[in-house]
Amino acid sequence: MHAIVVVTLLIFCTVSSVHPQVFSFSLPVGPGGGESFSLMGEGRITAVRVWERYNNNIVGLQIRYGPIWSPVVGSQSGVGKDLELFDGEAIIQISGKYTSSLQSVVFVTNRSRSLQAGQPRGISFNMYPTSQEAELRFISGQVRNGFTSFGAHWGVVR
Ligand SMILES: *[C@@H]1O[C@H](CO)[C@@H](O)[C@H](O)[C@H]1NC(C)=O
Repeated sequence: MHAIVVVTLLIFCTVSSVHPQVFSFSLPVGPGGGESFSLMGEGRITAVRVWERYNNNIVGLQIRYGPIWSPVVGSQSGVGKDLELFDGEAIIQISGKYTSSLQSVVFVTNRSRSLQAGQPRGISFNMYPTSQEAELRFISGQVRNGFTSFGAHWGVVR
């Protein structure tokens, strides 16, 4: 009985030291509503693309993992803006503003570069990983004529 407890504890400690708390989730902003989505792919994020309606809110989003672009979430209307990451560059912060939908968004990399789109109006938010080693892995939320919900998942790419 004791042995089982000790072994279990050992395994637990080993696992938690190999994988410290590198995964975290930034709770979604926005009231929600519409269709749920998860933007995810294999490997490291290499580019991000955002569409904003003319002088208006964010309507579309696409992420490239390695060489492969994800499907577009939302619509490709208005102005498209993108940011290509360099090798060894990662997204470590997302900030922006929202009202009933996402109005503006800023993706910031660990080389202090950023992609900014949309209009700065509404309530501010700021999302980042809890661990310094972690970077943006996925985005999930809900869309209906814009992003009514927008959350970020952080982790380590091995
Ligand atoms: C950015 O993050 C990546 C992935 O964690 C890392 O390999 C790289 O060294 C970081 N670069 C800087 C400038 O912090």
